[in-house]
Amino acid sequence: MEIPSTQHPAPNMPLLVNPAMRGIVRTAWKQVARGGAVRLDMNEMDPPVDAGLFAEFLARLVPHDFSAYPSTAALVDRLAAREGVAPEQVHVGPGSDGVIATAFAVFGIPGLKVAQLEPSFGMYPVYCRMHGLTPAFVPFDAGLRIDEDALLRAVDERTCFVALANPNSPTGTMLPRETLARLVRRAAEFGVVVMVDEAYYPYSSYTAAPLIAEYPNVLVTRSFSKYFGAAGMRVGYAISSPEAIDWLKRATDSFEVCGLSVAAAHFCLDREDFFRARMLENRRGAKIIADCCRAHGAKVLDAGEAVFLNIRFGDRCDAALAALERADVRVKDMRGVPCLAGCLRISYTTPEVARRIAAAIAAACPPPSP
Ligand SMILES: Cc1ncc(COP(=O)(O)O)c(C=O)c1O
Repeated sequence: MEIPSTQHPAPNMPLLVNPAMRGIVRTAWKQVARGGAVRLDMNEMDPPVDAGLFAEFLARLVPHDFSAYPSTAALVDRLAAREGVAPEQVHVGPGSDGVIATAFAVFGIPGLKVAQLEPSFGMYPVYCRMHGLTPAFVPFDAGLRIDEDALLRAVDERTCFVALANPNSPTGTMLPRETLARLVRRAAEFGVVVMVDEAYYPYSSYTAAPLIAEYPNVLVTRSFSKYFGAAGMRVGYAISSPEAIDWLKRATDSFEVCGLSVAAAHFCLDREDFFRARMLENRRGAKIIADCCRAHGAKVLDAGEAVFLNIRFGDRCDAALAALERADVRVKDMRGVPCLAGCLRISYTTPEVARRIAAAIAAACPPPSP
């Protein structure tokens, strides 16, 4: 049957979009079947949460977690008590990335600069573009160091926001405490909010949270995805001054964190014993991999602050990748990142998997001759 054509065919006009969106290119993220492979390329928790613990979580869910509009109030109270701040100083969002996106929307002023390290978390430049902000990149040198003066100079009267991942991803580096304190003081002179993205805390050695008591411009973001390994649940939070948190709340959807996610966050806090024990296990695993790599002539760049190791295999990257592939372990190829030339990134894992990785690397990379 012939479909009657409309009398006025739709004109083929390009869609009207916010011009700030032009130039944003995103690659579609598709979860691929894991098969038997150990995925250490995404900085997720592998193996996933223990089956017994997961069953315990499911058994706690109630029909209202499905049917009722969720509330984060009890979670906010809990996180506030844990951080030693008032509930007005905590905001819970859909992953720390959700909180970060809101922070860019709130503190980004079109036409002004956002100071950030280069390279850093890939979403910062995307949010800059979306909000008409100019990234002021402060690059790492080949030794993965940041020039403190350049960082301080990136904050001036044309700056509206600082986005600092600490530890940084993908470099795994941590800014010296004193540098961070100087940056916060300088930003405070201009009323500029310094967002300290602490997605990897408490794997990292210090937090900027104590600065909040003195500096209302410090905004710390945290994630349930790394230490608690609940990346699929999408929960994160911010801690800051009541004033900064109030601004975040004004820009937030009515119910942006789903009921299951809220329940999962409570569960993580209740069973922190498990996650703390796993952090210690993961560190033992990381040491096994790092020791083996060093013994086989690869340079371990990791500062022990995040949940991954950047390892410089140089011209033996392909051999190491192939050996890991044969061992059914996926890692991330970092060779495209200038200051991580010749590097592979391996997420932290258990000592058992670490030994498998070490054996594969040992076979692929003979030790340097004495
Ligand atoms: C530095 C940094 N910030 C934020 C995030 C986002 O984490 P979340 O899962 O909490 O959104 C990541 C994720 O890998 C990250 O590496």
